[in-house]
Amino acid sequence: MDFPRYTTSIVLNRRSALRRLAALFGAAPFLGREAGQAQEDPLLQPVSVMEFAPLAKRKLDPLAWDYLEDGSEDEASLRDNLTAFGRIVIRPRALIDVHKIDLSVELFGQRLEYPILLDPAGGKNCFYPDGENVAARAAAAKRALYITNGGRIQKTLESGRGPVWWQVTTGGEFRNSQSMRAFVKRVESQGCSGICFTTDIMYVSHRERDIRNRLERAWCETGMPARDAQGRLPEAKNPWRVGVYPERPFPTPTWATLSELRSMTRLPVVIKGLMRGEDGALAVEHGASGVIVSNHGARQLDHVGATIEALPEVVQAVAGKIPVLVDGGFRRGTDILKALALGARAVCVARPYLYGLAAFGQPGVERVIELLRTELALNMGLAGVPKLADIDRTLVRIRAASAEVR
Ligand SMILES: Cc1cc2nc3c(=O)[nH]c(=O)nc-3n(C[C@H](O)[C@H](O)[C@H](O)COP(=O)(O)O)c2cc1C
Repeated sequence: MDFPRYTTSIVLNRRSALRRLAALFGAAPFLGREAGQAQEDPLLQPVSVMEFAPLAKRKLDPLAWDYLEDGSEDEASLRDNLTAFGRIVIRPRALIDVHKIDLSVELFGQRLEYPILLDPAGGKNCFYPDGENVAARAAAAKRALYITNGGRIQKTLESGRGPVWWQVTTGGEFRNSQSMRAFVKRVESQGCSGICFTTDIMYVSHRERDIRNRLERAWCETGMPARDAQGRLPEAKNPWRVGVYPERPFPTPTWATLSELRSMTRLPVVIKGLMRGEDGALAVEHGASGVIVSNHGARQLDHVGATIEALPEVVQAVAGKIPVLVDGGFRRGTDILKALALGARAVCVARPYLYGLAAFGQPGVERVIELLRTELALNMGLAGVPKLADIDRTLVRIRAASAEVR
């Protein structure tokens, strides 16, 4: 039996090779006795990314689970992000030699082994102790590009040996030229090889589960406090609130901010949070190295639709001048394949690896990445597109939307 190329490059003895294959294919029945061992390993029980979600939920305090899982207001975009993939149909090709699958991709001067990146996610200590560093180590072990949210970045940088590291900012660092220069200096001196600039969180949205739960957001920086014998949490000093009129003490970033940032660093600057073509064109005009089509995992402005719906117009407007990435609701290799067909150079995921983190720590994150990578490789083989360059717009068709309005 022939396996995707990336598995064969690693020299292993027979036993560990079988274990690795079991890990790749999820307790595959053809492994006989070895499969029996695999079935005992709880890490190998989930056979898909979504099967990590209930395991994560079981491990987490209900407030932490809601913080991980929730979207804003009606959670309409949250549902859209997941369901919109169902309207995209793959058109597989026949009789193509697919005995070698190559997932590698060139991105910002780096060769990545596969087009799956780990998104920034704040508050990981709510999901696992020292979560930012644990996830970073997992990404490094899997040689995945990891975008840190910047929490305790120095420790994160020291903790892993991944291909690249990205600092993300949500605006505060850019309130004036001086603070921007200090930020750039810090990021460069800490060995980050790129900046991911999140544009969609100039205000924090109403996430109603967190508001009802009276979540103290700071808990997720330090770890959820223990509940008392009656199961009560300490009273939140600064719970997530509703009904506070939005204002910021200093101007929020604009396209001019991007130009200024561009003039201060040679690092790639990727703009995260675009949902329309015009903004893709502006990103190119102001010197962005790449964009991530994103609705922040449906946690910011609601009713913006699914990111996979917005992807084609951004791809069209950017016209191949810089790479377009996308995130939001990717749970399957086929989801990733569809995005690549619609013009994405790579995809990013957050909740999938957070499920793995919450359920099993570092091995969970690694396993989730492996499952997504394996599914993508397998589906590329099945669809007759053995390398990323073979994937184009003809690989998918989009079913007509139903006229139904909620
Ligand atoms: C718990 C959590 C925390 C997040 N924190 C950040 C953040 O600090 N900065 C950021 O740019 N995006 C953040 N995001 C959004 C993700 O980077 C990403 O855009 C989105 O979650 C992708 O969708 P997915 O979770 O369905 O994969 C967060 C998402 C989650 C679930």
